[in-house]
Parts: sequence; structure tokens; C-alpha cells
Amino acid sequence: MTVNSLGYVIIESTDLGKWRSFGVETIGLMEGPPGPDGSLRLRIDHRPFRIAVLPGKADRFVTAGWEFVDDAALSACVNGLQVAGVAVTKGSAAEAQAREVRSLYRCQDPSGNAVELYAGRHVDYLPFASPRGVTGFVADEQGMGHVVLPAPKLEETRAFYQQHLGFGDSDQMWLAMSPNPSDPKLGIYFMHANNPRHHSLALMGAPVPSGCVHIMLEAYTIDDVGYALERCMAKGAHISSSLGKHSNDFMVSFYVQTPGGFDLEFGYDGLEVDWSTWVPTTSLIPDLWGHRWSPPPAP
Ligand SMILES: [Fe+2]
Repeated sequence: MTVNSLGYVIIESTDLGKWRSFGVETIGLMEGPPGPDGSLRLRIDHRPFRIAVLPGKADRFVTAGWEFVDDAALSACVNGLQVAGVAVTKGSAAEAQAREVRSLYRCQDPSGNAVELYAGRHVDYLPFASPRGVTGFVADEQGMGHVVLPAPKLEETRAFYQQHLGFGDSDQMWLAMSPNPSDPKLGIYFMHANNPRHHSLALMGAPVPSGCVHIMLEAYTIDDVGYALERCMAKGAHISSSLGKHSNDFMVSFYVQTPGGFDLEFGYDGLEVDWSTWVPTTSLIPDLWGHRWSPPPAP
């Protein structure tokens, strides 16, 4: 029942051209052939896609796909969800093909985030080649990166991912959003899957209209980060946060607003953990340095 990694994210867009310009020309991801569902497919490793952008009527995050090691592990998770009364639907063969997987299931977490679970991910072995010279991304068995999801039902949602999908605690933060001493503080749970990445999932205790707080891609080098930041600024993309280094996973990164209305964290040098000896932490500060946030531009 343990998730191995974050396999992919699915995004809906009113304008695939904007995502192609952002993802390929600005960020430097590799565009693959379009999916059978008409999606724009963006690659960072040997998988046919890690980000798929579907044409649609809204600009939003649709779902995250979580990878299991095999069908037995996936079935155990699905059975556990059904016993607990969670509605789970099986994806059709065509839907599984569009996701490039063998077995696909869907459900919702307690905060209403759409969840996809799969086994049998397709691999086409095509080497990653960035059109903008990104040297490469830490992906493959560590998954595509991490995703931070809105979780207004924070404790219930954390329990869902722990009990049913097998996530473990990595760290938590409680951030005061005002100088008021009685500020209720915004909670964030950082959680790991069965791979060394510090967190594949984080849950933030507040609603987010786009359906996602941010997704994170981890490049190989600091120069990849610097050059990507330069391209984002040259293209006039909104830099949501300046360069900085996080406390809990030591990621050096900046944040840029995507055409989906949520942010992309572009980083490098994130912490890799031996979970057999890790003791979950509570970080009292979010950053060691940097990460100055700027409000999004008015619509
Ligand atoms: Fe992040």
C-alpha cells in the first residue's frame, strides 16, 4: 500500500500554446509527441511525460498520479480505501493508455483533491534533451519531484495519505501569517513516499483556487536554476519568490507562476534521506536564506 513516487501531474488549460511557451521555451522541458487525449506532454526523464496539459475550459491543476511498485501493492491500497468507505473508480483501458500506465484507479482525498493511483508505468528510454540546455532533472526512481496540495481538512487529509497510501512524515511547519500573537498559524505537512526525496507531497491547510500550491522540479545544477531564473525574468514571467534555500529539504530554488495559476518551484540539491534512521522534524523557519515572496499580478 506504499506509494513509491510522484509519477505525474495533469493540468487543464484554455491555451496549450501558453503552456508550451512556458514549459518548453522558458523552463526548458522537452516536448514529447501529443498524448492520445490531445495533451501537451512535457518530459524530464525517460518517461513519455511527467507533466500533461489537457485542452479544456479552465486553467487549473487536475490531479497528481502516484506510482506503486506493482499491481499487488496497488490492489492492496485500493482494497484498503474501499474497506474504509472511500469511493474508488477504475480507469478505462483508454484512460490508462493516455496516462501511459497499465492499471489506473481514481479517488478523492478528504480535502477534495483528485487522486490517481497506478502501477505499470510505461518507459520509452528516450534520453532527456532540453531545448534550453538544462543539464537534466533528478527524477526516475525519485519520481518527477513534489507537489504541494491545498488541504483545508488538514489532519484528516494527512491521515488519508498516511493510512491508505503509506506516506510517512518528513517535517511540519506552522507559519504565522500575521504579527498577531493569537494568529492560528498555517500548517504544512511534508510527507515522503518510498524513495529518498525529502518530500514527494506536502499538504497546506488552506484552500487554493487553482487546485495546487506548487509543483517542484529538481534540476542537476545551480547553473540550471540560475539560467532558468534568467529566462523567466527575460520572458516577463511572474517570479513568485526570489532565489532562496529552504530549511527542511535544503532545496535551493525560485518560484515562478505557471499559466495554470499555481507556482512551479525550480530547484536543485534537495535533501535525500535514509528513512530507516530519520526522525520527523518540526521546522521553525521555512528558509535558511532568501525566498522573498511577491504577490501574484492582478488578473
Ligand atoms: Fe516545494
